[in-house]
This record gives sequence, C-alpha cells and structure tokens, in this order.
Amino acid sequence: MCGIVGYTGENQAAPILLDGLKRLEYRGYDSAGLAVRDGDALAEVVKATGKLYHLADKTDQGRSLPGNCGIGHTRWATHGDPSLINAHPHVSGSCSGSGSGKVESDVVGVHNGIIENYGELKEKLLRHGYRFYSDTDTEVVVKLVDYYYKKYKIGPVDAITRTMVRVRGSYALALMFKDHPGEIFAARKDSPLIIGAAENAAFLASDVPAILKYTRSVYYIGNLQVARLSPGSVKFYDLNGDEITLPLTEITWDAEAAEKGGYEHFMLKEIHEQPAAVRDTLVSLVKDGTVDLTETGLTDGDLKRFAQIDIAACGSAWHVGMAAQYVLEDLAGIPVRVELSSEFRYRTLPLGKDTLVIVISQSGETADSLAALRVAKERGAETLGIVNVIGSSIAREADHVLYTMAGPEIAVATTKAYSAQLAAVYALAIRTALARGTVSQERHDALVSELMTLPEKIRRVLEEKERLQWFSTKISNAKDIFFIGRGLDYAISLEGSLKMKEISYIHSEAYAAGELKHGTISLIENNTLVVGMLTQAGLYEKTLSNMMECKSRGAFLMGLTANGNFSVEDSVNFTVYVPKTDEHFMISVAIVPLQLLAYYTSVNRGLDVDKPRNLAKSVTVE
Ligand code: M6R
Repeated sequence: MCGIVGYTGENQAAPILLDGLKRLEYRGYDSAGLAVRDGDALAEVVKATGKLYHLADKTDQGRSLPGNCGIGHTRWATHGDPSLINAHPHVSGSCSGSGSGKVESDVVGVHNGIIENYGELKEKLLRHGYRFYSDTDTEVVVKLVDYYYKKYKIGPVDAITRTMVRVRGSYALALMFKDHPGEIFAARKDSPLIIGAAENAAFLASDVPAILKYTRSVYYIGNLQVARLSPGSVKFYDLNGDEITLPLTEITWDAEAAEKGGYEHFMLKEIHEQPAAVRDTLVSLVKDGTVDLTETGLTDGDLKRFAQIDIAACGSAWHVGMAAQYVLEDLAGIPVRVELSSEFRYRTLPLGKDTLVIVISQSGETADSLAALRVAKERGAETLGIVNVIGSSIAREADHVLYTMAGPEIAVATTKAYSAQLAAVYALAIRTALARGTVSQERHDALVSELMTLPEKIRRVLEEKERLQWFSTKISNAKDIFFIGRGLDYAISLEGSLKMKEISYIHSEAYAAGELKHGTISLIENNTLVVGMLTQAGLYEKTLSNMMECKSRGAFLMGLTANGNFSVEDSVNFTVYVPKTDEHFMISVAIVPLQLLAYYTSVNRGLDVDKPRNLAKSVTVE
C-alpha cells in the first residue's frame, strides 16, 4: 500500500525523502512523487510512474530539487489509474498535465488510505468552485483542507481537524501550507504513521525503517490526532485542536534488521532469520520452563472462563489461525472458529464476554483485521491481538496484546513473522490447556521443552536448501501445483500454496486431501505437481492414498514427511524429510522447505521476489 515520508530540518530534503521511500518500497507501489520547498519559496512537485529510480533520475537523485522541507509518496493505486496525474503529491489548486512543477496553491499533500465519502465531498467542493485534475480521493482531501483553511481563516491544525470530522475512511496525511515554510502537518486515522524526532529535524513515515538511519526516537501518533513538525520540534493535537502530549519511544532494533545483510533478497534473509524469530518469541513467553502470559494481561481465570475462541486474520496469518484451531482444540478442548477477517463482520456470530476473539496480524494494520477487531469489541467479546509491529493499530486497540518477536519483515511474502505467530499460538494453546486442566503439568513441561527445540530443528531444515534449489529448477515451468494434506497438514498446504503462487505466479491450490476427489481432481493432468504433506502419523496412510489417486491420473508427486518415514520413497517422485517434533508443532519445520521451494522457483523465473506484482506488504484498504 502507499508509503509516505516527510522531512524538515537543516539538510537537503529530497535525498532523505528518496532514501525513505526506497525503504518503503516493500509496501508495493506503482508511481511516486515529491514536493520540496526551499525556505519561503514555492514548493516544487516532481512525479514519476513506475519504479522509484525513475523519480530519482528525474530529480538527479534529489539534487535538482533544493530545499530543507518536503514530503514524498509511493502510490498503490486505489482511486484512478497508476498515472502521472494521479500520482501524489496533490495540490489544492490546479496543476499541469504532468502533475509536476511549482506549487502556486496554498496546500500540497500526500495520503495513504481511502476516503470513502470522497464522491459526496467532491460534489460539495465543485459547488464551491473547486476544479479537479485527477481521479483521486486524495485531491479531494487536500482541497477540503484548503476550503476550511480559507473559509474560516483558521490555521492549518484547525483546517485539518475540521476536515477530519468530515471525511470517512482511513488516512495518513502529510501536508505543507504555502504560508508555513519549514513546517509539515500530519494527521492519522487507521493508516500507519510514525513521527521521528531529532535535533534540528523532524520526520514522518509510514514505517520505522524509512527514518531509522536518521533517528531512533519515534512517536506513534494515535487515531484522529494531528502533528505539527518543524526543525527540532513536534507538537500533537487532538480533534478539538487542543495540544496533547505523546510518549517518545526509542527503537531498540538495529537498522541492519531492515537491510539485506548480504542476502540476495529480503525473503531469503528472513527465511534464515526464522530460528531467531521463533526463539525470541518463545523466550518472551516461556519463563522457567512454564508458559507465562502475564504480559498479555490474560490470566488462567480468563483462559478457563472462555467458552469459545474465534480467530480472525488474513492471508498467511489466517493460515496460522487454521493451525491454531487444530492445536487449541486438541490440547485445550475448547471450540475454535477461524474466519477470514474480510468475512468476519458479515456473519452474525454470537459473541459475548465468554468469547475470546484473537486477531492475528504481522503488521497490525491490516484494514480487514482491524475492522474485525472492532466488530468483536462492539459485540462484547474480549480481544487478543497477536501482532508483530509494536504500537500498531491492532496492538493499541485490542484488550490484550501478544507481541511476536520477528523484528521488521520487509519481503511481501511473510516467512519469519508467520513462524513467530505459530510459536505464539503454540504457547497460548499450551497455557490454555494447563489452565483448563486438559493437560497435566508434566505434559505441559514436555510440550514446552519440545517447543524450545524448534529453533534448532528449523536451522537444520535450512541446511537442506540446495536440494530444494535443485528441485525448484524442475518445477519452474509448471502450470499448476496442488498442495494437499489433512488436519494440520492441510494448514501447512494452505501456506505452502500461497507462498508458491504469490511470488512465482504459478497457479497453485491447497486442498484438503480427502476433498480432492469431489471435483478438483479433474484438474490433474500428466506431470501436474502434487505436493503431499505427510507429517501426521494418523493421517499418513490416508493422504498417501489420495496422492496415489493423483499419480494414477498422471501427477508427479512430492512428499514432505518427518525423518524416518522412508517408505514414502516407494510411492513418490521426490521426498523432503524434516526433523521430527511433537505433531502439534510439525508445521514449524515443514513450512521451511515450502518457503525455500517458492523462493527458488521465483528466482528461477526471474521475478521480483520481495515485491511481487499487485501485492502490498501491509494491506490497509478493505
Ligand atoms: O500484516 P498481516 O499479517 O495482517 O497481513 C496479512 C496478509 O496480508 C499477509 O499474510 C499476506 O497474505 C502475505 N502476502 C502472505 O505472504
């Protein structure tokens, strides 16, 4: 989704803005733009479609845009084509066909999010004489700010708060006003935005990595709050325009965590960071051999009291939910429903105080998951966010938060955050089971000690990567790939299939192995790859039979199973073995070869592994 950056200080703004936008590239975009002003002079806007280097080339790496104050934007099209005229920044007046040039207007701004009532606001502004040059909702917001600014002759903060009261939807906005040189004004509702403080400078960005090179002191601006940035000063205001104080947070993770560190792609680096992500998450949740959820605020009494758990999430986080369902039901004997966040609100699920709704999200900003969390709260359920990004919207709004410790994840295809989420739900399931008396202390201890072996077992799988790299060359031209399994093996299939299709663009489906013959098996042709998950002893024979049904219709088979199940080689064409662990946790080791297979297939096909087409890292629109 769109990325925004802003800088005001003593240095040249444009190179800092370009650098910040580069670090937000992972969010996905199709055009980019800058607005920079030099002291009292008019701001100048430059835009470019396509990759960021076009904008860098157009501005001579920022050198041809002098000035110490500016805003920048990468746009992921929602309203209007990815074109120069629709690219941000947008201005309150008119603009040339290319959208670039000196800004005569009073207000210029960038925006991430969606303004739902932009049509009605546009009508109002048209009646007041405003003319529009783009198809974007952002131009409407910028012009609305301008309208209030002039009509009531009020300052920027009040013009922005009036606008916030009128717009529906989500936004992270950064605006510059002609009459306020050296200042940037920002506002936020439901879209990510952080403000950086430094001596003689101030920054804003959609995400911390964009500014980490310059400062570690960050404010997490809240919903419906406004910020006013000038060199060395940041002030915050509420919706009434009253000044408020926000706490300053020091970012403790290293800037290197957001760099490639010698790996060809972020995805490969993040795959290799999984042992650490899982270990750090477990260490934060296990104290003296016992799962300890004190920091989440969930007590054993709560875990005993809940009659039902509902899980809402999107994409890979939803796949973690699917795994959690099996593990929680099996260990803790509690009914669990898993719902896609985007569907959660359309069901009239009976929720109440005795329901725990868990929302799982790496970014903590996924719009559908945030909406599901709010619906759950409105309906009286208690909520737990399992979130990776500290200070994100879901973390702030959930009743309880369990932070995964994956560190910043840059590749669009999640790997280490997914693994950290799995570790978190295992710990939650074990503590819930202990609290509810469905496992003894002895079994709890055994499960925890097995859990702590996962980082090392994942590391051992990574040592096998050359075999996966070799096999990926055999499948790089595949038309379709099917991932099948039963029970927890079905949950692995879902994630394996998503990883493959999202970065290799090979059509792929995950199917519950037993369901295949009710329709999907008609798609199996000569040499169609069917990847069968065989990590659950009780389901092994049945899934293998389903794989054989495919083989007899021409399929080429890959089997993925625990070390020791060597008989599988009699039936399949290619076998991958992973270390044995408790069957509840097998996904954690079994997913790694599937991530590597997807990664190498994408590399073989010459694709943009870290930034696959049409996708964004943080999906902040519904
Ligand atoms: O930030 P979230 O965990 O809420 O994101 C959810 C999905 O958008 C995300 O998992 C997506 O499916 C990834 N592209 C999967 O690799």
